[in-house]
Order: sequence, then C-alpha cells, then structure tokens
Amino acid sequence: MSDDGHISLTRFLIEEQRAGHVNADLRLLVEVVARACKRIAIAIGKGALGGVLGEAGAPGETRLNVQGEAQKKLDVLSNEILLEANAWGGHLAGLASEEMELPHPIPDVYPRGNYLLVFDPLDGSSNIDVNVSVGTIFSVLRCPDGVTQPQAAHFLQPGRAQVAAGYCVYGPSTQLVLSVGHGTHAFTLDREVGSFVLTTRGMRIPEETAEFAVNLSNQRHWEAPMQAYVADLLAGKDGPRGKDFNLRWVASMVADVHRILTRGGLFAYPLDRKCAAQGGKLRLLYEANPMALLVEQAGGAASTGRAPLLDLAPQALHQRVPVFLGSRIEVETAVAYHRAADAAAALSPGTAAG
Ligand code: AHG
Ligand code: MN
Ligand code: MN
Repeated sequence: MSDDGHISLTRFLIEEQRAGHVNADLRLLVEVVARACKRIAIAIGKGALGGVLGEAGAPGETRLNVQGEAQKKLDVLSNEILLEANAWGGHLAGLASEEMELPHPIPDVYPRGNYLLVFDPLDGSSNIDVNVSVGTIFSVLRCPDGVTQPQAAHFLQPGRAQVAAGYCVYGPSTQLVLSVGHGTHAFTLDREVGSFVLTTRGMRIPEETAEFAVNLSNQRHWEAPMQAYVADLLAGKDGPRGKDFNLRWVASMVADVHRILTRGGLFAYPLDRKCAAQGGKLRLLYEANPMALLVEQAGGAASTGRAPLLDLAPQALHQRVPVFLGSRIEVETAVAYHRAADAAAALSPGTAAG
C-alpha cells in the first residue's frame, strides 16, 4: 500500500505546517474543529436512539434562530459542541454561527488567538429526521490586528481572505473536506480508530458536466435568465445545449457540494421572489464562502450569477447571497445567461431581468 494510505489528518497537518501552509495555531484550530465534528457524527449516528431528533425546545414550542428558522435539537447540540470545543485552545479571538445572532466571545479565563471561526453547525436540518446526509460547514478568517473583542464587523471579510475552509459530511461514511489554500483534500473517518484518514489528496472537479442541482420547485419564482438557463438544461439533446442533463437535489448543501466535488456538477441556489428581499437563501459567510473556496481550490468556479462569490465584500454577519458553484464551464455558462439578460435590460431599460 502506498504511504498515502495511512495519512491521518494530524500527520497531514504537520506536513502542511512543514510546507509553510499552516502555523501551529491554525493546525490546532482545524484539529479541534475535526474533533468536534467527530462528536457531532456520533450524536447523529445514534439517531432516534440518542434522543437527538426533532425540534429544539419544550414539546409544542418552536424555537427560532436569528434567521427565523425553527431550530432542531441537533442544530442546538452541534452549535454547543463547536462552541465548547473551540473555547479553550487559545487559537481563536472569536466565533460566529448560523445559530447565534451575534459573535460569541472567547471566555475571559482563556487566552485569545489570532483567528476567527464562522460556522454552520448543522447544514441540511430538514434532512435530520429522515436519515439523509447532513453536514457542518466552517470558515477561518484572521482577526484584524489589535482586535481582542471581535464584533460582527470584524468578520465581514471577503471570501478570498479565508485562511481555511471545510465541511464535514455525515453520510454513509463521515468525511471531512478541507482546504488551507493549497488544494482541497478529503479525509474519511475511521470509526474504529476515531481518526480522519486522507482518502483523496487534491480533489479535482471536472470542468464540464451533465448534472445540476437546484430546487426546481422554485422555478416560477426565479429571475428570467435563470428560467432560461434551466429551460435549456431541461430541453436536453433537443435543445441548444445538445445533451441531456441529470438533476440531483439532496437539500443539504454539504451533500450536494460533496457530490459535485467528487464527480462534477453545478449547484445553484439562485435569487427567487421568495428570498429576493433577503438577497438569496444561502448565507455568505458560513455557507457560500467556505464552499466557494473549496470548489475553487479543486479547479471549479463559484459565482453569485453575476460576480465571483469570493470577491464580495460582506455587509452583515448573516447576509444571504445567490450561489452558483461547481464545474467551471457550467458555472460560466450560467453566468453568461445572467450577463446577457442584464446587458439586454441595460439597452432597453423598460425590460426587467426578472
Ligand atoms: P440549514 O439547514 O443550515 O438552514 O441549510 C439549509 C440550506 C442548504 O443546506 C440547502 O441547500 C438548502 O437550504 C435547501 O433549501 P430548500 O429547502 O429550498 O430545498
Ligand atoms: Mn446550511
Ligand atoms: Mn444550519
């Protein structure tokens, strides 16, 4: 067996440190997040036997998070596991999460580090109770110099400023997918040993694809260019694209993106009339940006449909954005539909793109 057969996450990170890609604090940070993900994986794996399914709060009560979404027990538990794991290591200046309105300070009893961690503790909540893959998404930023009590404004950095990003997918196997800015790498949890083992070094997304992922039930609410783009995909061999496309939608971004990193495809959560007022459905800082970094580092592309996702300057901690990511040529094709519609609308201002 090649040496690559037994590279634990710990060894991988030590080697990344020797290569100058991470320092000791960032290495510890990734290890701590991975350990928290193992605890979340164990809780998810117990399913109904662990008493972790269903809604958070007392029976009959619906607990809403800052997004106005009903919290599941596992949303709350996963958030607590990540907060607790990351409090004491001295590597973080602060944390922020989908489940908390404001950044969470590091308790005063612990030293502060130079990094900020942002996460979606449990992605794909609607799939928890039906035993379908869910995940955890995380993004690591540098804390601005001299800041010891980071506020929301300190987290508002473009995706290109991320020093690391990753997700853990809790599926038939548990996999951690990570980038520290030098490729995207997948690790599989060896459940007996309790350690993540490198299973794909340097994931590559095929540039072209015949597979796409979108919630098609929103079709009538989309903007005109998105309607036109998907209509051409659905027309298959008989349409302008000249080939048949396959549709897959898990409704857990982590699972959909994992499939795309593994075998290619296009993922889209575009603007629609239901989410237009909020700017989109998915959250920029802890869903779109980390996934965009992982996808770009694997040779793919990530866009709002009009601009590269990683270049956006965030305006708010829980900001939402339209998302198109995956196989590079397919993302560029989707963007071209939006650019063409915008150009046409600019020529005849009476015609709106939506
Ligand atoms: P979360 O569970 O963290 O709120 O995220 C759910 C997101 C994302 O995982 C998925 O792609 C999308 O919502 C599913 O949306 P639909 O319910 O519209 O399919
Ligand atoms: Mn999510
Ligand atoms: Mn979530």
